[in-house]
Amino acid sequence: EKRELILAFESSCDETSVAVIENGHHILSNIIATQIKSHQRFGGVVPEVASRHHVEQITRCTEQALAEANVTYSDLTAVAVTYGPGLVGALLIGVTAAKAIAYAHHLPLVPVNHMAGHIYAARFVAPLAYPLLALLVSGGHTELVYMPAAGEFEIIGDTRDDAAGEAYDKIGRVLGVPYPAGKEIDRLAHLGQDTFNFPRAMLKEPNLDFSFSGLKSAFINTVHHADQIGEQLDKADLAASFQASVIEVLVTKTLKAAQKLQVKQLVVAGGVAANQGLREALTSAIQAQMPELQLIMPPLRLCGDNGAMIGAAAHIALRKGTLADLTLNAIPGLDF
Ligand code: KG4
Ligand code: ZN
Repeated sequence: EKRELILAFESSCDETSVAVIENGHHILSNIIATQIKSHQRFGGVVPEVASRHHVEQITRCTEQALAEANVTYSDLTAVAVTYGPGLVGALLIGVTAAKAIAYAHHLPLVPVNHMAGHIYAARFVAPLAYPLLALLVSGGHTELVYMPAAGEFEIIGDTRDDAAGEAYDKIGRVLGVPYPAGKEIDRLAHLGQDTFNFPRAMLKEPNLDFSFSGLKSAFINTVHHADQIGEQLDKADLAASFQASVIEVLVTKTLKAAQKLQVKQLVVAGGVAANQGLREALTSAIQAQMPELQLIMPPLRLCGDNGAMIGAAAHIALRKGTLADLTLNAIPGLDF
């Protein structure tokens, strides 16, 4: 069998990542340079700071990815890059690097949608089988995506306001947890109990949409009110209550969609897919209600932004002949 090697770039937000992927599902290298520390004191990602870091890191990451994979440019089959959605200045660094390498080494250039990349991270766990349902939960997205076949995406549920990860990060500020707050709130949640019983928005409504801004407001109001009357609330219980609300809505709507569409697999993807509470709740709900449904959750290091997932997606795009030329531009609001 011919070795198909893809050099993949990801720079849509605050991670510079370059990976070498063999035959779409084998990781030879996956270098990730995170900028989290530089953004933390601002409480979120500062676009200009992000772009500058990507410029500083991308050459080193590329060299390291090739060296670790023990390949050279002449071994490559294609170059792939995230061209959206994301921060325009950040995306442009990856797009420019990928174009330069494609041009210099006469390689095909594969444009990849970041969100498709998150879903295809599941390929590193198991071969995908269609029809498939993906729960995409990240800092910018909360979507249920139906895939009748490889490369076909249909958004069947979406958030009406905040994304799940965004809600975690926003209540993190109120709890004094540094950005990005998801992981720490997840840890705190396991030490507490759901004593506050926050609202479960849109749980009973006959659609597959989500809403997290009401939960966020209820949380913030509870904390502010306690502050005003000088009451100390238990941080772990607050985190557990918030997380219980997020998870109940995500799990209920996801299973409802899976049942309705009779899918073979459920893929959980994006930064929030690293949430232990969500992983446990989905695992037991599926065991109890839909044991025939195959649940695929990428390992934690492949849930956040990384180049490997872009390589996995590019392998499928390449099969379909989806190529870009050197006019490829970043599209910050790219849809499926
Ligand atoms: O996919 P990602 O790395 O970047 C985007 O494309 O947005 O997702 C980042 C988001 C952040 O909001 C972060 O707080 C959240 O994922 N996150 C988590 C956990 N780990 C990361 N949220 C909940 N629980 C976690 N364990
Ligand atoms: Zn992402």
